[in-house]
Amino acid sequence: MKIVTDSAELRRGMAPLRGQKIAFVPTMGCLHAGHLSLIRRARELAYLVVVSIYVNPRQFGPNEDLDRYPRPFERDAALCAETGVDLLFHPDSLYPTNDPQVTLTLNPAHTLSSCLCGAARPGHFDGVVTVVNILFNLVQPDLALFGEKDWQQLAVIRRMVNDLQMAVEIVPCATVREADGLAMSSRNHYLSAGERQLARHIPEALQQMQQAAADGTCDAHALIAAAERTLAAVGLTAEYLEIRHAETLAPLTRVDDAPARAFIACRIGATRLIDNIPLIFSRS
Ligand code: PAJ
Repeated sequence: MKIVTDSAELRRGMAPLRGQKIAFVPTMGCLHAGHLSLIRRARELAYLVVVSIYVNPRQFGPNEDLDRYPRPFERDAALCAETGVDLLFHPDSLYPTNDPQVTLTLNPAHTLSSCLCGAARPGHFDGVVTVVNILFNLVQPDLALFGEKDWQQLAVIRRMVNDLQMAVEIVPCATVREADGLAMSSRNHYLSAGERQLARHIPEALQQMQQAAADGTCDAHALIAAAERTLAAVGLTAEYLEIRHAETLAPLTRVDDAPARAFIACRIGATRLIDNIPLIFSRS
């Protein structure tokens, strides 16, 4: 595995490989089994697998966890090598100047960027699309893999690729979970043992909604209210807990006439966790 740390070196390294099928997995490091599942899928789909590790300052708000975001690079590099990565891109910075005059911005009036994490983290998705666009320009992949764990991010990236006519296929990958259902996340490292115990109630609330929809509950408010009670019983209040259209993210009042998904963000102590699940209605 080759490790490169600046953009010029990446371009030079990629030049002789053009023409081969290239799969790309952008990450912020602190790799876990979720990231590795994307890398394994990339290995199956392409001749060349490129992974980036870059904690992108632009997608963090002023009071977020940019400074304490874990950066265990040696360990990450070893995991990448073991998982069959060909090229690991680990730049110090991805922005050529401190004062860029051209960045990407999502339409702030559209649901896609203004709901859920877009509402809770202003500017976050602008930072994500700006950095992913720069990474796509450097790597020029045929495929790029993204996790369903960050469903709204996946939807935003798909929209960017579509609106800007980018020649890259976006491959979604299923959420990898711990044995008790908690979605794997680099931020799970922040949790104390007690908080980790509490965190399992997040997937439990989502699974309860999924089960109730499968058992014939169609009303979104009823599904949400029941899940909120489950969380309240263990002292948790969601930052958001909503049911939306899986593709457009438009709010839904019922789950039987459109592809529906439940979305949650919940703070456990100082740690903000997100998750989502499909709701498949069935008339019982
Ligand atoms: P990061 O949080 O490191 O995630 C990198 C990729 O791994 C994303 O596509 C994310 O959805 C996926 N992922 C994370 N946890 C997962 C899980 N439990 N199961 C499956 N996939 C999972 O997302 C980012 O970084 C950044 O926003 C980035 C796209 C790199 C831009 O900076």
